[in-house]
Amino acid sequence: MNAAITGIGGFVPEYILTNKELSTMVDTSDEWIMSRIGIKERRILKGEGLGTSDMGTQAVKQLLKKTNTKPEEVDLLICTTVTPDMQFPATANIICDKVGIKDAFSFDMNAGCSGFLFGMSTAAKFIQSGQYKKVVLVGADKMSAIVDYTDRSVSPIFGDGAGAVLFEPTNENVGIIDEMLHVDGAGRKHLHQKAGGSVKPASHKTVDAREHFIYQEGQQVFKAAVKGMADISVDMMKKHNLSSEDIAWLIPHQANMRIISATAKRMNLPPEKVMINIERFGNTTDATLPLLLWEWEKQLKKGDKLIFATFGAGFTWGAIYLKWAYEN
Ligand code: UT7
Repeated sequence: MNAAITGIGGFVPEYILTNKELSTMVDTSDEWIMSRIGIKERRILKGEGLGTSDMGTQAVKQLLKKTNTKPEEVDLLICTTVTPDMQFPATANIICDKVGIKDAFSFDMNAGCSGFLFGMSTAAKFIQSGQYKKVVLVGADKMSAIVDYTDRSVSPIFGDGAGAVLFEPTNENVGIIDEMLHVDGAGRKHLHQKAGGSVKPASHKTVDAREHFIYQEGQQVFKAAVKGMADISVDMMKKHNLSSEDIAWLIPHQANMRIISATAKRMNLPPEKVMINIERFGNTTDATLPLLLWEWEKQLKKGDKLIFATFGAGFTWGAIYLKWAYEN
């Protein structure tokens, strides 16, 4: 038995933060951001009291509607996020409550920008066990909650959004075929949030030192990301004897256009086979992969061979080879 994606929902907030507006907040320019990162604008969730679960809820509601799934039919909901509504309880539990999913269990996962990829592997295992028939995987992040808008090296990169997919069992030759997932905890020194955890709880000092925002050593992460994402994608192709002609789409994490292009180049894939939304949404962390599927759904055909690839905080990285299961 295999685990296939059988539906997609997505949500991005209305507010558009353009490079022009960002240039009024920090010393940057549209020209620098476009040439170094490839982002034109990003969506920001505005409104008091709104968080990651609100975007996740919208994505899941749309998913259930599109797939004709009743909330009570969902067996398990997994939410991957680095910006949970609160430290506890899990954002997944809050989404279930807001959607009306009552007969399921749920939990959060955090694997940095590889969260959704690792979540795909996890969701598939629950399906393949035979015990669960409908597993919802949500990738959602309100990155604007942890971005320092006085820091020009980080603030252009991130945006807010959420995506959700439904996993169901299938006996056909579709769904997740293989996965290669890796972590290197030593990489944490280059990308992390310094305070707010058990090592350095929140205090006046940590707030004054701006330690609740993303800390990133951009160049170190960039180098590791290019190598990590490109190597793993090529390894997956070699393992399954896939040529660039065989692959319908590369679905890469959207951190930097230069990282995406380097990965596609190593795979010998033309730009027409690479899903890209970074220009409009920026890096939505856990939401990049499902938001790509959400926008490209109509172009996907049954049997299409897809390679998903990510790199993120942790360090975490990996690739999944999946055969698409349906067409609209
Ligand atoms: O998804 C999570 C994983 N994260 C990533 O994959 C991010 C990986 N890293 C990157 O994408 C890039 O390293 C950044 C986009 C973060 C930075 O780009 P870069 O080309 O590596 O720039 P840099 O840090 O080497 O900085 C080059 C110059 C510096 O000026 P000096 O010292 O050469 O005078 C920076 O101060 O660019 C300057 N700079 C900026 N200038 C205008 C940095 N940020 C900006 C900015 N606008 N926003």
